[in-house]
Amino acid sequence: MACWQNPRTGKEPPKANPRRRADPRHPAPGLPQPAATHKIIGNVCAVTERPLAHNLQLARGPLKQIIAVYPGSFDPVTNGHLDLIERGSKMFHQLIVGILRNREKQPLFSVAERRKMLEEMVQPFKNVRVDTFDGMMVDYAMSVHATAVLRGIRAISDYEYEFQMAMMNRKLQPALETIFMMPSVRYSFLSSRLVREIAQAGGSLKELVPDIVEERLRQKFDPAARFEHGGAARAGRQHRKQPVTKIVTTGKKAK
Ligand SMILES: Nc1ncnc2c1ncn2[C@@H]1O[C@H](COP(=O)(O)OP(=O)(O)O)[C@@H](O)[C@H]1O
Ligand SMILES: [Mg+2]
Repeated sequence: MACWQNPRTGKEPPKANPRRRADPRHPAPGLPQPAATHKIIGNVCAVTERPLAHNLQLARGPLKQIIAVYPGSFDPVTNGHLDLIERGSKMFHQLIVGILRNREKQPLFSVAERRKMLEEMVQPFKNVRVDTFDGMMVDYAMSVHATAVLRGIRAISDYEYEFQMAMMNRKLQPALETIFMMPSVRYSFLSSRLVREIAQAGGSLKELVPDIVEERLRQKFDPAARFEHGGAARAGRQHRKQPVTKIVTTGKKAK
């Protein structure tokens, strides 16, 4: 059987009508045809040694490109976020990490700081870029021609909120599909909130955040480090006080 034949029925695709406009699914008359010697062994073409799907895709033309948005606060980006970004970059043609400019939340890092950290971290992924948005996520996704939204699920506790949000987003924009991914198990307990608390309490962030992020956290919470790295202007800035919970302190609860 030749590579361009239907593997189930063995039939050839219908002949192209020369009077009709070129149909990218069928080669136009006159274009080079695959040689009849291209035989299929399993799912692989014996001559080109490419998977059959690849040859069918060549015959059909490029498939639709999937652009996905990965929205979130990323305050700051953690290894859990990066785990998801890496998985998403393999699945989608283009992945846009969208930082929500949320005026209600009082973030630790400004949007510009978060963007800078993320941009440094996504550099190895050529199909990933960082952007910021406010307002409705579905409107933003439409504006960048995304058809998918990537969200992470760490534990069952994430599920209820994420489910509600996915359903609401579907109602607001049915053309947008939410895709959930799970991180590596070693990041399944990791959140930006915990990272902020550990940093404030002076604990180790090894293997939880990239080195650059750990450094920026130290600068935020250690005034001496702020003088060292950012000068007096930055040191004078006020940052939100985080409640230190029992998770990071073994002693008494903070009053
Ligand atoms: N450790 C992690 N592993 C996998 N996904 C994560 C992790 N931390 C956060 N996420 C996911 O990344 C997305 C953005 O999270 P976050 O930055 O906290 O923003 P948001 O304010 O939208 O919760 C969410 O879908 C969240 O579930
Ligand atoms: Mg969150």
